[in-house]
Amino acid sequence: MDSRRVAIVTGAARGIGAATTVRLARAGWGVVAVDSCADDPAIDYAMASTAELDAVVAAGGEHVVGHVADVRDAEGLLAAVEVAESRWGGLDAAVAVAGVIGGGVAYWETDADTERTVIDVDLGGVMRLARVAVPALLRRPEPRAGRFLAVSSAAATRGLPHLAAYCAAKAGVAGFIRALAVELGPTGITANAVSPGSTATDILQASAALYGLPEREAFAAQQPIGRLIEPDEVAAVLEFLATSSSGALTGALIPVDGGLAL
Ligand SMILES: NC(=O)c1ccc[n+]([C@@H]2O[C@H](COP(=O)([O-])OP(=O)(O)OC[C@H]3O[C@@H](n4cnc5c(N)ncnc54)[C@H](O)[C@@H]3O)[C@@H](O)[C@H]2O)c1
Repeated sequence: MDSRRVAIVTGAARGIGAATTVRLARAGWGVVAVDSCADDPAIDYAMASTAELDAVVAAGGEHVVGHVADVRDAEGLLAAVEVAESRWGGLDAAVAVAGVIGGGVAYWETDADTERTVIDVDLGGVMRLARVAVPALLRRPEPRAGRFLAVSSAAATRGLPHLAAYCAAKAGVAGFIRALAVELGPTGITANAVSPGSTATDILQASAALYGLPEREAFAAQQPIGRLIEPDEVAAVLEFLATSSSGALTGALIPVDGGLAL
């Protein structure tokens, strides 16, 4: 049996999920890289493509497997867990990164399909991954160092106008992680979330468009560090959280936000 640590990462085809996948692979993990690779009629910007997922798999090397699944599809996520267990004999970390943004108008004017999609992907997708991945983390023999990780957002703690559904979903992720951490108790498995600030990815470009801004760089000035965060800077924190060294941290919402929430 292969003794390497094994992870599932959703939203893996680009941005923070891609950076996390490549980092974990280079650190010796086996990674099932999950992405829907499909546009959504309720979301008005493009999702990643299968070519982007293939490029991440190639960048990660022989221990990354691509798996096309939508985080709204529990069967597809369960199949990703089965890939991890059949290929590498178990699962040590599940990292819920997939997310979308939508809004751009006052909450009460927000399209109902957009709201449903934002909640179901950004909050439901995290919970659905936990539902299928935590039993696999628990199947590892004791002493365990399983990790359930999610990407929330600075939007969990700030009221962002015209992004009410997104703020609600991301705050929901923080609440879910707190409860899950307590439920996992002394199992050796922890649950944590990171809350990135403005990070140089496609979702930030989509946020700029929702606010009528030409470029995502417009968000740099509001962050005390005076620049956008790179996806790999968020991935570096997720990589640490995935290690067995992070065992004293659980139920936390860890800002990786260049001081945005200060
Ligand atoms: N970039 C930022 O400024 C920022 C800030 C705070 C939080 N976040 C969060 O970080 C996470 C990653 O976003 P990103 O910045 O890398 O943006 P991104 O748009 O580049 O990446 C999102 C990825 O998720 C995938 N995805 C979308 N819907 C999916 C679904 N239903 N099922 C499976 N995959 C799906 C997309 O195809 C894409 O590959 C998101 O949860 C986002 O909300 C981003």
